[in-house]
Amino acid sequence: MNIIVTSLKGGVGKSTTSIYLSAAAVERGYDPVILIDADPQASSAEWLELWPIDDIEVIEAPSERTATRALQRVDGLAIVDTPPGNERITQALVSLADAVVIPTRAGGVEYSRVAATLELIPPSVARGVVICAARLGTNDLDAALEWWKDQKVPVWGVIPERVSIASGPEARLSREGLNAYDAVLAKALRVRR
Ligand SMILES: Nc1ncnc2c1ncn2[C@@H]1O[C@H](COP(=O)(O)OP(=O)(O)OP(=O)(O)O)[C@@H](O)[C@H]1O
Ligand SMILES: [Mg+2]
Repeated sequence: MNIIVTSLKGGVGKSTTSIYLSAAAVERGYDPVILIDADPQASSAEWLELWPIDDIEVIEAPSERTATRALQRVDGLAIVDTPPGNERITQALVSLADAVVIPTRAGGVEYSRVAATLELIPPSVARGVVICAARLGTNDLDAALEWWKDQKVPVWGVIPERVSIASGPEARLSREGLNAYDAVLAKALRVRR
């Protein structure tokens, strides 16, 4: 089972989402969970180097070739963090996906970048949007949910904006974040072939 976390847009929550989905998978008993970090920035890999999680094995694979090879070798659950703005690597990875998770934001979204991401995903591959760092109860969030409904793209989760989730590599994972991402993982796993 391959879950690719991707968006051509930068800074939307890909690495945060990849880490939390991996940790949620460990809590569900997946062992090992392979987190492939295909971003040369290696944010996920650095985060887990500081705060290792038992049963998450990190593979740094910062190129199309290394990432696709790593993914093809995994037999079990793989979660892939991807670099922003790299159509080639995104396309190569989503073509191997069982499910694609697309982190996005509620306010000021460049829908064209998300649309371009969606266009790279083969029609047979399940995909869902996760709204990251959401301000609950705002018009922005309501408008974003309405937009995705109109686009007929399922929203697999809404992750609240929290300092504890934002703190990233400086801190351990938050319980609230884990619970919110577990619901996303459940949706992604449902598509298992
Ligand atoms: N739920 C949240 N609440 C608050 N801040 C968040 C949340 N999720 C992510 N962030 C913050 O948003 C910023 C971008 O997140 P992240 O690094 O995961 O995005 P990214 O898509 O991987 O970025 P890049 O394109 O640079 O790889 C980070 O500072 C992160 O801590
Ligand atoms: Mg990142």
